[in-house]
Amino acid sequence: MSSNYDVKDLDLAESGRRRIEWANQEMPVLAQIRERFITERPLEKLRVSACLHITTETANLMRTLQAGGAEAVLCASNPLSTQDDVAASLVMHDEIPVFGIKGEDRETYYRHIGLALDHKPKATMDDGADLVSSIHKERPEQLEELIGGTEETTTGVIRLRAMAKDGKLSYPIIAVNDAMTKHLFDNRYGTGQSTLDGIIRATNVLLAGKTFVVAGYGWCGRGLAMRAKGLGANVIVTEVDPMPALEAVMDGFRVMPMQEAAPLADILCTVTGDVHVVDRSHFEVMKNGAIIANSGHFNVEINIEALEDMAIERRKPREFVDQYILDDGRRINLLAEGRLINLAAAEGHPASVMDLSFANQALSLEYLMQNWKDLDNHVYTIPEKIDREIARLKLESMGIEIDTLTEEQSKYLSSWEEGT
Ligand code: ADE
Repeated sequence: MSSNYDVKDLDLAESGRRRIEWANQEMPVLAQIRERFITERPLEKLRVSACLHITTETANLMRTLQAGGAEAVLCASNPLSTQDDVAASLVMHDEIPVFGIKGEDRETYYRHIGLALDHKPKATMDDGADLVSSIHKERPEQLEELIGGTEETTTGVIRLRAMAKDGKLSYPIIAVNDAMTKHLFDNRYGTGQSTLDGIIRATNVLLAGKTFVVAGYGWCGRGLAMRAKGLGANVIVTEVDPMPALEAVMDGFRVMPMQEAAPLADILCTVTGDVHVVDRSHFEVMKNGAIIANSGHFNVEINIEALEDMAIERRKPREFVDQYILDDGRRINLLAEGRLINLAAAEGHPASVMDLSFANQALSLEYLMQNWKDLDNHVYTIPEKIDREIARLKLESMGIEIDTLTEEQSKYLSSWEEGT
């Protein structure tokens, strides 16, 4: 057992272990990497601080890093996403220091980040760039120890690219999010399913026949709109970028400004990565009983302060529902305090899709170990060769075979002389 931890209750460890094993059955690519890591030990003695959602899937990633020889510690990347039994099991059964308690307040959240950084990492693993930003802002003396880091999310990558552009990034980062085997699958199919899972677990509402507004048509929004439509909802998309807006139209969705969509919404979910996408003027026109949720990384997309300011009363009809009563009698239901609904009220993305994302994490760390001396302080994409290999392994694990180019076809593709 690790002696360094802050988790809710170690007695939960047995349940955590069983659930981690359950998830592992759906993570065959990561399991293969783990087997190789056991013999090759590519991360020998690498001190890693990880700030990720503490879930069964993350537990399997941490076990993989450990199998590769890393000395890894883990803290929560969101105050509401920690699975307390998983945190307990990692401490009890894997001797991995963990700092995270579901429902922790802001102060505890940042204290836990501090404890993870006390590990003096040589590499960081982030989901939202909180470790990178804390080191740069509060512990610059630790920067020179760092050989690199990885970043899981779209939001984090945007933050880090902005830092790099301003010349403020002091060590190289691999943008795991930018791997095709990450964003095309985890963001789309993972967010699509798990967001609906969170909304349904929180409210138990029927989606069929409801008007469902999706704010943002990036990969997460595409997945959410597709799955809501699949359950029979009437989906409206809001966007600020003409390209995805056009794509949403061609995909068969109604597209309109938020001010027009808000009064139509039975359920509204933000997935934009931007601030105050749902604001006071939208609350003013929403239907009585409307449900609003967020599945973007930070809890900034819904202007909760404005809603609080407008409300004359607040009730809690269900665990993840805050009902705000406005002075005209309308009730607006905010889910999970505007935090990512899929991880707060459900269990995040299913293991099968995290298998791809976390295979990228593990291989990115291996890549950093082998190449850090040649990297500048930029945000890098994982090499395409690794990305394709992950796709190949996933297909293989699913028992799916594909064709290979014939010699004639390869030649045709590489020649410029052949035409009609
Ligand atoms: N992000 C989204 N879903 C997740 C999961 N199941 N585990 C870790 N991070 C996640």
